[in-house]
Amino acid sequence: MNIPVIDIDPFAKDVLENPYSYHEQKREAGPVFWLEKYKTFGMVRFAEVRAALLDHERFISGRGVGLADFAKEKPYRPPSLLLEADPPSHDQARAIMNGVVSPASLKALEPVWRERAEALVDRLVEQREFDAVRDFTEVFPMLVFPDAVGLMDEGREHLLTYAMAVFNAFGPRNEIFLKGEEDAGAAAGWVAEACRRTNLKRGGWGMAIFEAADNGACTQEEAERLVRSLLSAGVDTTVNGLATALFALTEFPDEWNKLQAQPRLARKALEESLRWDSTVQTFFRTTSRDVEVDGTNLPEGSKVLLFLAAANRDPRKWDQPDIFNIDRLTSGHVGFGAGIHQCLGQMVARLEGQLALTELAKRCKKIRATGPVVRRLNNTLHAIASLPVAVEPA
Ligand code: HEM
Repeated sequence: MNIPVIDIDPFAKDVLENPYSYHEQKREAGPVFWLEKYKTFGMVRFAEVRAALLDHERFISGRGVGLADFAKEKPYRPPSLLLEADPPSHDQARAIMNGVVSPASLKALEPVWRERAEALVDRLVEQREFDAVRDFTEVFPMLVFPDAVGLMDEGREHLLTYAMAVFNAFGPRNEIFLKGEEDAGAAAGWVAEACRRTNLKRGGWGMAIFEAADNGACTQEEAERLVRSLLSAGVDTTVNGLATALFALTEFPDEWNKLQAQPRLARKALEESLRWDSTVQTFFRTTSRDVEVDGTNLPEGSKVLLFLAAANRDPRKWDQPDIFNIDRLTSGHVGFGAGIHQCLGQMVARLEGQLALTELAKRCKKIRATGPVVRRLNNTLHAIASLPVAVEPA
C-alpha cells in the first residue's frame, strides 16, 4: 500500500494524556494513513472524518465502533442497538429513543434541574475552593440524569465505573482496559439490574422505553438494552464534557470574563469546549465494501479509526483551532458525531452544561485553577479526574 504509515500508538498512555501534540504529524501525513500497531486505517482531517461519519452505508457501525470486529470476534457485551447497529434496525431503535428523550420531556425537567444546579453552585461558591471535577462535574449530572431515567436509588455510584469500562472497551485490550475491567464487574451487574422494568420508576425515560415496547415498538429484551444505552452513554460523557469546559475556562481567563459578563453564552462555551477538546476522542467504523478515499483503496472489512477530536482542530477547517474562543461559530463540529449516529443525548448534555455554567457564571466573578489538572486515562474519552479551583464570588 502506498500510503503514509504511522507508528504512534493512539492508545498509549502519553498519547491519551495529551493527544493534541500527536495529531499534527498524522494530519500532515495525508487524508488517510495506516496505523501500524493495530493494522487499521486512520483519518484525522475534518473533511474526511465528517464524510465518513455521514456515509453510514460504507462506513458501518454494526461491526463495532471499537477496534474489535464483531464479524470476527464475539462482542464483549451484547452490542448496543443504537451505537453498534446499522439501518434498518438502528433507525427503528433510534425512533423509539427520539420519542423518549424528547425536547418536551427536557422542557418539563428543566425547572428541577435548574434548582439543583443553583443549590449545588450556591454551596460550592460559599466554600470558595473546591475540586471542579469531584465536587461539581461528577456531582451535577448524578443529581439530574439518574432521576430522569427513573433509576433505582441504591448503587447509582456504579454508573461512572461502568461507563469508564464501556468507553475503554472500544480501544485495545491494553493495561488501561484491563484496569477498568477489574473495577467494572460489580458495576456491570448493577447496571443489568437497573435496566430491568421492575427496577425502573414510573414517569422516567426508562419506563417510557418499556411502554413503547408494550405498544409493539420493540421487544422487552430490546427495551432493556435500550435503557442500557442511556446508562452507558449518558453520565461519563457529560461529567467530562463539563469538566473540560471548566478546564478551558480556567486556561483562558478572558473567555471566563466574557461568560461572566453574559451568562447566556453558557451554551456557546460548552459547544466550543467540545470542539476544543472533544470528550469523545475517537470511534472506529468498518468498511462494508471497498471504499476509495483520496485515491487509496480501503478494502472491504477494514477498520478505520476516526479522530473526532483531531478533526475538530483541523486548521483546514478552523481558524486558530488551538484557541478556545466562546464567540466562535462551532456549527459542524463533530464532538457529538454526525449523521445517523449523531449523539442521541446532545440536548441532554447541552441542557446540563448550560445550567451548570450559567449558574456558576452568575455567582462567580473569577475562577482560577489552584493546582494542576489530573487526567483519568481512558481509551476513548479525554477525561479529567481532578481540577482544584478557587472562585471569587460576584
Ligand atoms: C458532552 C456529552 C456527550 C458527548 C460528547 C457525546 C458524544 C457522542 C458521540 C460522538 C456520539 C456518536 C457516536 C458514533 O458516531 O459512533 C454519540 C452517540 C450517542 N450518544 Fe452521546 N454524547 C454525550 C452525551 C450523551 C448523553 C447525555 C446521552 C444519553 C442521554 C448520550 C447517548 C448517546 C447514544 C445513545 C448514542 C448512540 C446514538 C446512535 O448510534 O444512534 N450521549 N454521543
